[in-house]
Amino acid sequence: MEPLTAPRVLIGSEQISDRVAEIAREIVDEGYDRLILLGILKGSIHFLSDLARALPGDVRIALMRAESYGDAHQSSGEVRISLAPTLPLEGEDVLIVEDIIDSGLTLKRLQEELAVKRPKRLRTAALLRKPDAAIHQAEAHFVGFEIEPVYVVGYGLDSGERYRHLPYVGVLD
Ligand code: IMP
Ligand code: MG
Repeated sequence: MEPLTAPRVLIGSEQISDRVAEIAREIVDEGYDRLILLGILKGSIHFLSDLARALPGDVRIALMRAESYGDAHQSSGEVRISLAPTLPLEGEDVLIVEDIIDSGLTLKRLQEELAVKRPKRLRTAALLRKPDAAIHQAEAHFVGFEIEPVYVVGYGLDSGERYRHLPYVGVLD
């Protein structure tokens, strides 16, 4: 087996935590009575955890799983939702928490799927967004960082299930 090389830092862990704190303030400023954070597995794990701990009040956490990539770096063009949300969403203020929006297909499919559950309000927070996001017109209300169209790993994001544990967002050279 070849040893793993550490990805080059694109967004450092301090920059991420500063931005997550800002997003939390934006969410608080927009207001909520009680909020369900709906984390999309697995990529959102760290963003979900950091964001949740920055939000006061009545906050619950639910999880869903969506997969579109397999092990390739290109979207398969199909989105598989393999885990339903773990809390009832009807009448609730729901915030989808996603790692990254590339073409926007995953988010679009999730938003369609979730709208059927009749939440009172459905918004999305994505840590990262690439320029192709406009293709599927999936709207995100809170975005951490706009990035170049390069494949990134770390802070939840993987390449073949590796690098999710890294505390920063990096690029594989
Ligand atoms: P989309 O459906 O094209 O927007 O792709 C979104 C999904 O693909 C994300 O939820 C990620 O799981 C994955 N993805 C897209 N770009 C990257 C990347 O640069 N690194 C790791 N995963 C990515
Ligand atoms: Mg994902």
